[in-house]
Amino acid sequence: MPLPFETMKHLLKLSDWSTDEIYEALDLADRLKREKKNGIPHRLLEGKTLGMIFEKSSTRTRVSFEVGIHDLGGAGLFLSSRDLQIGRGEPVEDTARVLSRYLDGIMIRTFAQAEVEALARYGSIPIINGLTDYCHPCQVMADLQTIREYKGSLNGRKLCFIGDGNNMANSLIVGGIKTGMKVAVACPSSNKPDSEIMKWAAENGDFTCTEDVLEAASDADAVYTDVWASMGQESEAEERKAIFAGYQVNDKVMAAAHRDALVLHCLPAHRGEEITAEIFEAHAQQIFDEAENRLHAQKAIMVLCMA
Ligand code: CP
Ligand code: NVA
Repeated sequence: MPLPFETMKHLLKLSDWSTDEIYEALDLADRLKREKKNGIPHRLLEGKTLGMIFEKSSTRTRVSFEVGIHDLGGAGLFLSSRDLQIGRGEPVEDTARVLSRYLDGIMIRTFAQAEVEALARYGSIPIINGLTDYCHPCQVMADLQTIREYKGSLNGRKLCFIGDGNNMANSLIVGGIKTGMKVAVACPSSNKPDSEIMKWAAENGDFTCTEDVLEAASDADAVYTDVWASMGQESEAEERKAIFAGYQVNDKVMAAAHRDALVLHCLPAHRGEEITAEIFEAHAQQIFDEAENRLHAQKAIMVLCMA
């Protein structure tokens, strides 16, 4: 009998996971990274199949999940919504029940968080959120892994996010607060992160949201940014350039941050918009380590959800 929705392990959003579960995933991600570097096989999902539904573009998420499930002894199936019947209006409730008969897990990248939640509710296999308009939990697991690698710990460190209060901001706030980090967001008052998430963060940790970029960056251990126009907002790109003009990671911002502060970016990056080319290149090693960690962190997530 499949487990009911409530007891099955999904990753629909980071707030569903406890601090212990997040650390368990980070520890496993570190182990899997070490093993991969040393050529030690870890076929922990032998014979399992992961379906990967994409309703938006992807480079990192697609490739890292596909390589990850292969490393774990399973197989990945790339499912574009352009080809699936879901793209022609077949309800997600039916898609969930059908795919549950074939697959051992689903990773989905889509627009509405409600679609991911419906997939989990109607299906009977683990669902992993590979980005919605609301959040990007897999990215933040890789981000936390990267910050811990460089800084040695998360608890008590300061994470600063500058830019749009989007899916990345939402997940970074949750992941940062859950792991004991101070989280400071700088964004225009018109584009703040989710209000429920901000309320939860203020009640559960050290959280601030300001329009003052230098105040948010002050003494930060990690400075994070993301595009000003996310996928699905392409038509607003010009308008958004004006809204976010003052929210760029540049020399001035980095001068306010801690001397050894990391710069992180989920990618893809727009040099000259949310980050200067100079700051991006000066921190490229960190940013591409972060991209690499998508592979290790997601392998850990798949093992914890699907093994
Ligand atoms: N950061 C991230 O999710 O990248 P992709 O859109 O390329 O998957
Ligand atoms: N905020 C971006 C993140 C891309 C990984 C987007 O949703 O397009």
